[in-house]
Amino acid sequence: MELLSIEKQFADALKSVARNLVIKEYIQQSSELYPLFQSAAKRFVTGDSREDGLSIGDLLINKGYRISLESLGENTTNKEECVRVKDEFIALIRECGNHGISSRISFDLSHIGLSVDPKLAYQNLLEMSKEAQSYNLSLMISMEESAKTDQILHLYKRVVVEYPNVGVTLQAQLYRTLDDLNELLNYPGAIRIVKGAYQEPADICIPRSDELDQRYLELVDLCVKAGHQVSIASHDEAIYKQILERGYLQNTYVEAEMLYGICPELCKQLKDKGLPVRVYLTYGVEWYLYLTHRIAEYPPNIYVAITDMIRGEGNSSQFY
Ligand code: FDA
Repeated sequence: MELLSIEKQFADALKSVARNLVIKEYIQQSSELYPLFQSAAKRFVTGDSREDGLSIGDLLINKGYRISLESLGENTTNKEECVRVKDEFIALIRECGNHGISSRISFDLSHIGLSVDPKLAYQNLLEMSKEAQSYNLSLMISMEESAKTDQILHLYKRVVVEYPNVGVTLQAQLYRTLDDLNELLNYPGAIRIVKGAYQEPADICIPRSDELDQRYLELVDLCVKAGHQVSIASHDEAIYKQILERGYLQNTYVEAEMLYGICPELCKQLKDKGLPVRVYLTYGVEWYLYLTHRIAEYPPNIYVAITDMIRGEGNSSQFY
């Protein structure tokens, strides 16, 4: 069997167990497994607390990067927890604002209520948008699995007309995204373009391929031609080669954005050329799903994870 085919099967299997709550709880409750997995997560997650996110964020800002911060989690299942999560984001916004840390705040709508009650998610989103605007900070809504795309875009469009400091993420892998982007370009908020992390049915989704890369670039082209604020959120060197050739990162409204711990050398290379690079930092104890996504999207990371488990924590900030 070809290695690539084994890797693809491994990635698909990992994506399907990533959402298995029994496995997640088993790992979280095991005094042997938890610290091992936590060591692997440390490469991609700044730490358990808000302070961990803020201190690494501050360090990267001082090195010349822009940052996004997220308190990890998604699919919150009850109202009280949604309010607690929203309060954590409000506290994060205030700390960034009060300490002059010019971070973008990134989050999943299902973390603040979408899976419980869309009205609750909307109220929480409004409160966060208003708070962020008062500190001149921006918010970025992540994009989740395709079953939620309509709901997410609906809430986004309602809020962005009042709060243009709110942006949204679009997944190039969904066929529908070309139409979604053409509509969203009429709204003021920033757009973040990603390839897409979720396993989706073949009839609605372009798999990783040249076709997907072409679609990705087409979406970026549309944003740039419209002069619309856009984050090119990818770690793909071939995509950046095209972006550099087109001179897109010279525009003030275009930036590169990459996840903390992934391809830090590429981040540094771009930043050292004087180009705008944002690093996406996460913190919190809900790192299990985040870690499995990072391994599933790039299966060689399993070796990195095992090495981090053996050697202890793999703090990534030193690589930037
Ligand atoms: P691709 O997966 O094709 O990888 C291209 C190359 O990049 C690989 O060959 C490898 O060299 C490198 N690479 C990619 N991933 C790596 C990894 N984990 N470790 C090491 N190297 C890696 N998704 C989503 O569905 N909703 C969302 O809201 C977001 N939000 C988001 C924000 C930001 C800032 C980023 C960068 C990404 C997301 N994503 C996301 C994830 C995104 O959809 C996608 O899964 C990853 O970015 C990986 O895709 P690439 O564009 O990097 O290309």
